[in-house]
Amino acid sequence: MAKKNIRDVELKNKKVLMRVDFNVPMKNGVITDTNRIVQALPTINYALDAGAKVILFSHLGRIKEEADLAKNDLAPVAKKLEELLKKPVKFVNATRGKELEDAINEMKPGEVVMFQNTRYEDLDGKKESKNNPELGAYWASLGDVFVNDAFGTAHRDAASNTGIAAHIKGESVSGFLLEKEIKFIGGAVDNPVHPFVAILGGAKVSDKISVIENLLNKADKVLICGAMSYTFFKALGYEVGESKCELDFVDYAKGLLDKANGKIILPVDTVVAKPDKEKVAVDFFQAISECETKVVPSDKIPSDYQGLDCGPATIEKFKEELKGAKTVVWNGPAGVFEVEKFAVGTKAICELLANLEGATTIIGGGDSAAAAISMGYEHKFSHISTGGGASLEYLEGKVLPGVACLDEK
Ligand code: 3PG
Repeated sequence: MAKKNIRDVELKNKKVLMRVDFNVPMKNGVITDTNRIVQALPTINYALDAGAKVILFSHLGRIKEEADLAKNDLAPVAKKLEELLKKPVKFVNATRGKELEDAINEMKPGEVVMFQNTRYEDLDGKKESKNNPELGAYWASLGDVFVNDAFGTAHRDAASNTGIAAHIKGESVSGFLLEKEIKFIGGAVDNPVHPFVAILGGAKVSDKISVIENLLNKADKVLICGAMSYTFFKALGYEVGESKCELDFVDYAKGLLDKANGKIILPVDTVVAKPDKEKVAVDFFQAISECETKVVPSDKIPSDYQGLDCGPATIEKFKEELKGAKTVVWNGPAGVFEVEKFAVGTKAICELLANLEGATTIIGGGDSAAAAISMGYEHKFSHISTGGGASLEYLEGKVLPGVACLDEK
């Protein structure tokens, strides 16, 4: 059943508690990617235009000890939000107490308060992350309506999502971002328009077992790429040389190939290199960026070489397999995209999907989303998820607590 959305509730003069996922990457206190903030703006602006008092909160990083507090201060994020929103954002450096309560009680409709990192509460008994009921009830008492727009955190059962929803007097509804994520990822997984093709890459089979199994049941084809291909190659009896390979999962990969009935498509060629081992020990990316490369058939990887990307014949094969697809979900890069000469496969997949006519194309978060955005394909997909772990769990077919806790329409 569909979840209630922010457009289904009265917001005028209401204190709206809005959970966002502003867990953005930072380097030396500077935000290096604002995508998650930008994606939250439509819901924030909608609530402000409707005359709500908007109280924003998010986690940032993980708090295990005192020293993590300063590193994960949300103040720079509030500053960035102010810039993007073009409106003042009153930042309260507390997660509870008089200062926060006063700031909220003094709010006028159309104003924004943002409070400190919800995981500051983790320092004392993981209250946020373990969904301490007293904390959820306290935060719920600060507002009238709960809007969850933090899809990236929806796989966590925390005080700031399920805890608030369990105690708030008024409604618990989705924001526009969360609604969009459910529409695209949920739509693809639960009710795809066929032909449905999944492209799964990334380093490890072990990280993607449930995703592969779930999508094998739903998709018409599953194209495998990235370093996890080498575990499948090994299962086929190929030499994989120095390539990453999970020996413990070779039998599992063999079992999958046996039951897939030809649905699993593997790379037919591979870009290999022979990096200097001493240099690899110091800096892997630097070491491989200095290497000569060559393309070999996937069953002919030399024993002293390492596979680092898929080759041109694979891209041609993937192009054929994608012809006529109506739904495509992609999760996981095709190679070591952080180094330009091994980013060719990942970029080619972006290009193939960008040019696919009449298909709904979805990137299920994580590295492939970051790669596509950094390569300039941000607006060329139907949807690029803001969730990493959350989209992976959704693709696995799991129920996300941060979605399940919202009111039904
Ligand atoms: C993410 O970045 O995937 C989310 O913000 C969740 O963060 P977490 O893995 O620290 O819970």
